[in-house]
Amino acid sequence: MQPTRVVAITGASAGIGRATALRLAREGAALAICARRAARLAEVAAEIEAAGGQALPVAADVTREQDMCDFVRRAVGRFGRLDVMMCNAGFGIAGAIDSVTPDQMRKLIDVNYLGTYYAARAALPHFRKQRRGHVIIVSSIVGKRGVPYMDGYAATKFAQVGLAECLRSELVGTDIHVTVVYPISTDTEFFDVMTHETGSRVERAFGPHQNVEHVADAVARAIAHPVPELYPYATSRVLVWLNAFAPGLCDRLVKKYGRKPM
Ligand SMILES: NC(=O)c1ccc[n+]([C@@H]2O[C@H](COP(=O)([O-])OP(=O)(O)OC[C@H]3O[C@@H](n4cnc5c(N)ncnc54)[C@H](OP(=O)(O)O)[C@@H]3O)[C@@H](O)[C@H]2O)c1
Repeated sequence: MQPTRVVAITGASAGIGRATALRLAREGAALAICARRAARLAEVAAEIEAAGGQALPVAADVTREQDMCDFVRRAVGRFGRLDVMMCNAGFGIAGAIDSVTPDQMRKLIDVNYLGTYYAARAALPHFRKQRRGHVIIVSSIVGKRGVPYMDGYAATKFAQVGLAECLRSELVGTDIHVTVVYPISTDTEFFDVMTHETGSRVERAFGPHQNVEHVADAVARAIAHPVPELYPYATSRVLVWLNAFAPGLCDRLVKKYGRKPM
């Protein structure tokens, strides 16, 4: 059967990527999914098929350019086209710049920024050939406004936004869309991974949280009706506006949202 859409998602073995894949599977989409943990990916593929979608699990690391080229090539080979590339794989490390090591910083850049660049770059030639497509980049609200002790992570999330804004303005007037997603704290494995990668326990963020299905629903709506920016937690836009007009006041406001390692 012809799928409603063909969507590639990086980092789909858990969290936001997995939830979005399952949400789209219920609409009859074909999902090319990648992550490093092949066994977890196989489980998600089975869940996709059970939900009514088609699945192509590909064990891949977003930090390897060739893996992303192969991921896209296999998706197009299996499903005949690619409608959406969701650059979602990512992780966090907590701490001020004098506690985040250069190696940790390089890893953040490799996964969060270069991983996004490689995945989007691999999909773009197909989108240009098809004359349509959609790049979705999962940044974070800290990609718009930094909070204490997320220095390295926030820098990579801002970098994703710069890439997306340039690409989006280059593509104005075409049928190739670019959407940046700005989630707030979302209940996924993110905080466990952050504790592991930081090397010490990281307090769960103070403030509002959202569940992962809420983010997946918002992404599914943005796929149906592309928008430049997506704030799954709508109120978080206020922070962006406030920061544009009163950054000093914002510094004091976001102090309580910091994620200091213990
Ligand atoms: N959760 C939050 O509070 C939150 C808030 C704002 C933004 N975000 C962003 O949302 C995105 C998804 O995070 P999440 O919350 O869903 O976290 P998660 O539950 O930890 O999932 C992260 C996913 O990324 C994959 N991944 C990590 N490194 C990878 C690599 N080198 N190559 C391929 N896949 C890799 C993981 O799979 P493997 O380990 O199997 O490779 C996993 O599937 C990230 O970009 C994150 O920055 C999260």
